[in-house]
Amino acid sequence: MNLLVTGGAGFIGSNFVRYMLEAHSDYNVVNLDSLTYAGNLENLKDVEHNERYHFVKGDIADAALVTRLLDEHEIDVLVNFAAESHVDRSITDPGVFVRTNVIGTQVLLDAARTKGISKYVQISTDEVYGSLGETGYFTEETPLAPNSPYSASKAGADLLVKAYHETYGMNVNITRCSNNYGPYHFPEKLIPLMITNALDGLPLPVYGDGLNVRDWLHVQDHARAIDLVIHKGKAGEVYNIGGHNERTNIEIVKLILAKLGKSEDQIKYVTDRLGHDRRYAIDPTKLTEQLGWKPDYTFATGIAETIEWYLANESWWRSMKSGDYMNYYSKQYGEP
Ligand code: NAD
Ligand code: DAU
Repeated sequence: MNLLVTGGAGFIGSNFVRYMLEAHSDYNVVNLDSLTYAGNLENLKDVEHNERYHFVKGDIADAALVTRLLDEHEIDVLVNFAAESHVDRSITDPGVFVRTNVIGTQVLLDAARTKGISKYVQISTDEVYGSLGETGYFTEETPLAPNSPYSASKAGADLLVKAYHETYGMNVNITRCSNNYGPYHFPEKLIPLMITNALDGLPLPVYGDGLNVRDWLHVQDHARAIDLVIHKGKAGEVYNIGGHNERTNIEIVKLILAKLGKSEDQIKYVTDRLGHDRRYAIDPTKLTEQLGWKPDYTFATGIAETIEWYLANESWWRSMKSGDYMNYYSKQYGEP
C-alpha cells in the first residue's frame, strides 16, 4: 500500500508514520508537511533514511502539488493529519485555522476525488461535539456543536468529507479521537507544557478552576486505531477513538509534579480560556465492537513513560521552546 500522510511532521502524524513503517514492512509512506511552528523533522530523524519513507515540504492547500504526489507515488490511501491544532492560538488568530483546516481539507478531497484513490481518512477530533455536562459520552451520533474557532474549523472539514462521500460516492472515513499524549508532543499543550515548566522551575498555568475534564489516550493507541480504520473502516463511517480515561486538569498537573518530585507551589491558577469546554468523554463502543480495537496503554504506564521521554529528550523540547515559541508564551502567559 502507498500512503500519503499529511501533517506527518507534527505530534500525532510523526508517531503514526513511524508506527505504519514498523507495522507494515511492505508499505510506502509519503509525508507532506509545510513545517509550520508545530512541524519538526527531528520527530522522524530515525526513519529519514528508510527507503520506504519520503518527505515532501509543501502545503495541503496547493492543489497542483497534492495532485502530482498522488500521481507520482501511486497513492492508495490519503490520511489527513495536517491542521492548525491549538485551541488557544485559534482564539487569537482564527484565520489560518479556516485556511488550513477547511480549505486545505477541501483541496485534498478534490485531488483525491479527481485521482480516484481507494480511500480518504480525515483525522478529526472529539472537540467537534462541543462540551459535555457532568455525565454522558460523545457517540458518533452526537450532534456537531463546536465552540472554538479550532473545533469549528475541524467540524467544517468533517462536513466537507461527509459531503464528498454523499455527493461523489468517495470512500471516506472520519476518526474523532480524544486528547492524545506521548512522545514528541509540542510543549504548548497541557501535558508537555506542565512537564517542561516543572523541570525548569517555572509556574504551571492552570486555566480557571482546573476542574475541566479531558479524556486522555496514548498516541500509539490512536495510531493503531487509525490503522484499523484504514483497513476495516466501512465507507462513509465515523469512528470515535478514546480509552475511557477522564481526568481533571488539576489531577494531571499534580500527578506530573508528584512524579517529578516537585512542589505544588509551582501551580498558578490563571484567567480561564475563552469559551473553555468543560468536559470531553468518548464512547468508543463502535470502534471496539466493529473493528476490534482496545487500548494497550494504561494511563499509569503511559504517563510514566512520557515523563521519562521528556527527561531523556531535553534537547528536543528545549529547541522547540525557543524563538517564536517564547513570543507566543509571553503573549499567552506573560513573561516567564
Ligand atoms: P500538530 O500541531 O502537532 O501537527 C500538525 C502538523 O500539520 C504540523 O507538522 C504542521 O507543520 C502541519 N501543517 C499545518 N498546516 C499545514 C499545511 N497547510 N500544509 C501541510 N502541513 C501543515 O497537531 P497534532 O496534535 O499532531 O494533531 C494532528 C491532527 O490530529 C490534527 O488534525 C488534529 O486536529 C487532530 N487531533 C489531535 C488531537 C490531540 O490531542 N493532539 C486529538 C484528536 C485529533
Ligand atoms: O480533544 C482533542 C483535542 O485535544 C485536539 O483536537 C486538539 O488539537 C488538542 O490541542 C487538544 O485540545 P485541548 O484544548 O483539550 O488541549 P490543551 O492541551 O490545549 O488543553 C488541555 C486542557 O488543559 C484544557 O482544558 C485547557 C487546559 N490548559 C491548557 C493549557 C495549554 C490549562 O489549564 N493550562 C494551559 O496552559
